[in-house]
Parts: sequence; structure tokens; C-alpha cells
Amino acid sequence: MKRERTYREDNGYDDDQYYDDRYDENDNFDNNKYDADDDYNDDHYDEHDEPPEKQHTDEKPQSSPPVTEQPAPETKQQPLIYAGTFVGEYDENYQAAVLEQIRLAKARRARADKRARDKLHAEIFMITTAVIVLLILCSVIIHIGKRRREEETFVIQQPDTSSVQEELHDLPEPIEKKTAPPPVVGTTPYAGEAAGHTLIQKDGVTYVDGILLVNKTFPLPRNYAPGISQEAEQAFYAMAGDAWTNYGVGLWQNSGYRTYDEQEAKYSEYAAERGLEEADKVSARPGHSEHQTGLCYDVNSTDFSFADTFEAQWLEEHCAEYGFIVRYPKGKEKVTGYDYEPWHLRYVGVEVAKDIQSKGLCLEEYLNVTSKYENSPDNEDFLKAHEKYKDIKHDESGAAEEQTDYGYDNGYYDYGYGY
Ligand code: DAL
Ligand code: ZN
Repeated sequence: MKRERTYREDNGYDDDQYYDDRYDENDNFDNNKYDADDDYNDDHYDEHDEPPEKQHTDEKPQSSPPVTEQPAPETKQQPLIYAGTFVGEYDENYQAAVLEQIRLAKARRARADKRARDKLHAEIFMITTAVIVLLILCSVIIHIGKRRREEETFVIQQPDTSSVQEELHDLPEPIEKKTAPPPVVGTTPYAGEAAGHTLIQKDGVTYVDGILLVNKTFPLPRNYAPGISQEAEQAFYAMAGDAWTNYGVGLWQNSGYRTYDEQEAKYSEYAAERGLEEADKVSARPGHSEHQTGLCYDVNSTDFSFADTFEAQWLEEHCAEYGFIVRYPKGKEKVTGYDYEPWHLRYVGVEVAKDIQSKGLCLEEYLNVTSKYENSPDNEDFLKAHEKYKDIKHDESGAAEEQTDYGYDNGYYDYGYGY
């Protein structure tokens, strides 16, 4: 029997809704839902889901437009075409069933697409979240590693503990000392932190307030060999140029950069000639010379008579304008640990040099540090290795040198030799 076509395919009935009204969450047809919600079922089927016999009555079905107002349904049989293929004669029941199948298929497809989209979105969200969390973790690990390395490299020194160290010296040598870690270079004498200075050591090189420091207390490692500093060299040539052009003062480099081994040879010469005590006043032990930093020059003569020349006076007055200080000034011998050296200039940069010069300080006073071999960690080993020079007394041979106000005069202009 042919059925009237009453279901609402073109009046906005939503595909999803249509599907939900008929199928459960497992995509199985739900007969109860169909009975409860579907107008077509209510209007056209009895409780056994059988279509009722057609009533010949004037009463109009509620869900259908009035028969009188609608043109009579096409009764002529027409070919039923589905997907471009002839599938049989026109039959409304059959067509309704086919259309419903199409609808359901479309709805099922839409639902499956939606689920796939939702799944894809969820996966993208999870992957993105995982990547972000991983990146954060990596940066935290890198940051912590960096901090650890910095902490291992930079050792902030403790305030002066010399009194404790002195007491330790008096104690019999403990057996553990042999297995204990080596002492941090220069720890003992530093009291500058209390005065607001910062001392750090990096790869065995000491910096106070960022200024590289080498003296009798603070040595350099044997393998520290940077060569001459480009900055210091440029400053020297700028200074020498101005001195000559503006004042007629000729400045030249007598001695600049020296390696640890070169300094050892130089020091040993003095020690062999004068003994350790006298050598220590004019020449730095290997590892303790500023010449190993590449930041200093012996300018012109290293004879003590140089102190009385116009060149030496010019240097004292003007070298700070180019970033240099006279490193071992007259009157500061006890603090620097060395005789006056009017020729030995150390590059510290213009700002620091001017500050030091205006305050009338030597570098040890400026940085609040000592310069004493007793405070140096390599002192004992050095003395043991150089015992042969210990008892040599100066001028035993009656050599040409004589003591001046500043130290021992070599009696000749010491070109190319350097202290
Ligand atoms: N004459 C200075 C102190 C040196 O040997 O470095
Ligand atoms: Zn020098």
C-alpha cells in the first residue's frame, strides 16, 4: 500500500536531531524513541507499527495539510532515480524509506566526522600541551645547570680569616691535610668584602671588583698565557703619541708580556745574584708577576735613575688619562711588597686609573687586599724548591750595583731587560 509522504524532510528538521530521536549512543535503532518522538509514527502507524487502513472521512489529518487546499498527490508512477540510477517505479513508501536511509547515512556520517574532528582537536591539544611542558622543563633544567656551573666557577671569598690561619699554622700537620682539597687561592688575606668589595676567582685568576689582581698574595696559574692585551697596547700607543706630539716626551716599551717560564728565568737570575729576600723586592716570583697578565709595560728604562727623569714625572701625571697607573709607587713599598718602580705601568682602564690616582692609593689599598707571600698558597712549595738561593747575600761579589733611595742601582740603562 502506498503511503502519503508526510515526513518533514524540507522544513528545517535537523539531521542530528533526527538521528538522536531514533538511535541510541551506539548507533542502534531505538524503537521506543521512534514511537515517542516521531510524528510520522504517531500519525500513520498503530501501536503494532502497522499502517492503519485508509479512512474515507472528511476529517483532515492533523499533521497533513488539508486535502482540499493541496493539489492531489501525484499518483502517476514515475521512475525512481537514486544516485543517477534507475531503481524502480515511483513508490512513495519505497521512496520514503530510501530517503530516510539517505538521511540516516548522512547523519551518521556527520556524527562520525564530528567525532573524528573532536578526537583530532583533543590530540592536537594534548601534543601541544606536552611540547610546552617539555620546553618549560628543558629551560628549567638548563637554567639550573647554568647556575650550578656558575657557582662552581665563581668562588666568593670569605672575610679575613688570617688569625684562624695563623693558629692553623701552629698546629702539627694533620694527616687529613694530605687528602683535604687544595686551599682556595688567596682566601686567607682578603678582608675587602667587609668594605663592600667583591673578590672572585675564575680558573685560578683573581678579580676584585672586576679588576684582575696579581701580587704576592694572589698568583696566576702557570698555564695562564693571554699574550699582550690589545686594549692595553692601544692605550699605550695613544699615550706615547700624545706624549711625543704635545710634550716632546719619548716613551717606548722596554718590556711587556712575559710568560710564567720567562718570569721564572728572570727571577732566578736575581735570586742567584742577590738571594731570595732581595730578589723579592724587585722581581716577582713566577706566577706572581703582572707581566704575565699582558696588562702592563715597563716603560723606557728600568734603572732606578729613571725616577728623576722628566719622562717619569710625565708618566706619573698623565698615564691615568690613558688608563694606566704606576703600579708600585714611591712610599707604598710595604703595601705593594715591591720597591718603587716608576717605569712599571699597569692598565686598569681610564675610570679606575683616574680614581686611584686622585685618591693617591696603590692598587692593594684601592682593592683592600694584601700582597704577601706568606698569604700565598704556593709559598711553601716555592721556598722548598728555591732553598739554594736562601742564604745568598747581596753584593757578596762587590758588583757594580749600589743601593739608592729606591733600591739597587744596576749602574746602567737597562734597555730591553725589564723588572
Ligand atoms: N718587577 C715586577 C714586580 C715584576 O717582576 O713583575
Ligand atoms: Zn715591570
